[in-house]
Amino acid sequence: MTFTIPPRLHLACLPTPIQKLERLSQYLDGPTIYMKRDDLTGLGLSGNKIRKLEFVIQEALQQKCDTLITTGGLGSNHARATAVAARQLGLHPYLVLRGKPDPAPDGNFLLDALLNAEIKLISREEYRHRDEIMQEVAEQLKDQGKKSYIIPEGASNEIGAWGYFEAAGEIKEQIGKGGYRKFDAILLPVGSGGTQAGLLLGAEYYGLDIPVYGINVCDDEAYFVARINQIIDAFAERYAYPKELPKDKIQIIDGYVGEGYALSREEELEVIKLVAGLEGIFLDPVYTGKTMHGLIEQIKKGQFTKGMNLLFIHTGGIFGLFPKRQIFMGGPDSGEFYQG
Ligand SMILES: Cc1ncc(COP(=O)(O)O)c(C=O)c1O
Repeated sequence: MTFTIPPRLHLACLPTPIQKLERLSQYLDGPTIYMKRDDLTGLGLSGNKIRKLEFVIQEALQQKCDTLITTGGLGSNHARATAVAARQLGLHPYLVLRGKPDPAPDGNFLLDALLNAEIKLISREEYRHRDEIMQEVAEQLKDQGKKSYIIPEGASNEIGAWGYFEAAGEIKEQIGKGGYRKFDAILLPVGSGGTQAGLLLGAEYYGLDIPVYGINVCDDEAYFVARINQIIDAFAERYAYPKELPKDKIQIIDGYVGEGYALSREEELEVIKLVAGLEGIFLDPVYTGKTMHGLIEQIKKGQFTKGMNLLFIHTGGIFGLFPKRQIFMGGPDSGEFYQG
């Protein structure tokens, strides 16, 4: 078996720009921070998930499926992106979302409703069995004559990994053409591990030779090292990856989950305001805001220093800001709109 890049759909606006964060870098008086604007992959299709979905949904179409089933939290960016892509391709979106009954129509959940996605709400307890629940849904839809394709949480599997495998090639080309100096580190949020796994595999393949640091927004380092290892193994096995597996290059900076997944602390929200105020760029509260907060703390600790060039991947998530309006105004965080 030879190593070939599988066919993909072209849904995202690529390549996404790399932008120097001049004022933030000056303000922090540390390394120069650049941002890969993957929040600009599209509007409805914004964020990192769409890169993964280009490969995953291509497989669904090859299998002649007419329905896409996926799962996540009530405010899931991945679920919303899947529903948008489904509608753009004339497919039926079915979302299995973790949330309490009668949620407020807000954030990504509002967009899911506008897309007329079929939605099944499940409890936190049931969410542990989300894969079985999606199987059951697929069986029920089969009885209605539908052929379903099931996309796991975050599209973080070996097919989804192709999205950031190819993003590594895109970054390599941008470094060559864009006149950026070589980056000393790439930083990104980690929520289900697929983005970092794909980026590591692609970096090795395209000879990017830049350390990749994931900052986890849930769980812990041990969990994500195991999870990313699993995705790398599944990828290598299915596609006969020709390079050394980048397992010793999995680097997770743990310690910035804060109050818990999708729960915000004041210092994280201050970072979102800081970046908006200095750069005119919106980070999200669940992923990129926490990651930027983690990066700033690491800079304060001397982990990244003046003279270094860092590339921060903005993975999107903007619609997660709106359900947090009360917390931005000083109210409590119910955590209802946690994402996935
Ligand atoms: C905006 C955003 N950034 C980052 C991530 C994390 O990516 P991954 O799940 O591939 O680790 C997610 C989803 O989990 C996301 O929605």
